[in-house]
Amino acid sequence: MNVITLAGSPRVPSRSAALLTIAQRWLEGQGIDVTPWNLFNFNPQDLLYARFDSPALQVFIGQIAAADGVIISTPIYKASFSGALKTLLDLLPERAFEHKVVLPIATGGSVGHMLALDYALKPVLNALKAQEILHGVFSEDSQISHYDSDPLLSAPLETRLIDSLETFIRALERQSQFHALSISSAS
Ligand SMILES: Cc1cc2nc3c(=O)[nH]c(=O)nc-3n(C[C@H](O)[C@H](O)[C@H](O)COP(=O)(O)O)c2cc1C
Repeated sequence: MNVITLAGSPRVPSRSAALLTIAQRWLEGQGIDVTPWNLFNFNPQDLLYARFDSPALQVFIGQIAAADGVIISTPIYKASFSGALKTLLDLLPERAFEHKVVLPIATGGSVGHMLALDYALKPVLNALKAQEILHGVFSEDSQISHYDSDPLLSAPLETRLIDSLETFIRALERQSQFHALSISSAS
């Protein structure tokens, strides 16, 4: 199975990106191929000026099409997901997440904005026709340390993240069984 991660913070170092690094290590330990992407893989002007022919964008779209699942992380900015991430999501084809399982992850300064994943990011994932959008993982800043080098999570956050990744894998397996069945019934 093959998964894309997308770090949606415009800053380095990044807490939300650190969660993806940990998720990637864990998934690879389960035999899943993970290809990490972040906003720095794109020319900022391509994103800002909506250049649909951006070479990096074309590669990214191709890799998403071939992936079984996507994990997206974002910082909470002004009670929503980052605007920089939106400039990239805006350039994806309408059905970019069709047949994909998507796990959203966010970090924020205040637990008061934990629902931003539900009311802000998930509708966009829906618009991109995600097959299954899992419950997100939200982390307060205080639960992540050493995110500039070797990130360390609080024990409750680590448990929640691993639980979500296990759910993610089960959803990927369901999705691939469903595809195998629909291919065999069509032939
Ligand atoms: C411009 C800006 C706006 C922010 N707005 C919010 C907010 O509305 N709610 C919140 O909980 N945290 C807010 N924060 C805090 C960030 O969400 C938090 O520090 C996050 O972990 C940063 O993620 P990153 O390290 O991946 O960039 C904001 C931070 C910045 C820089």
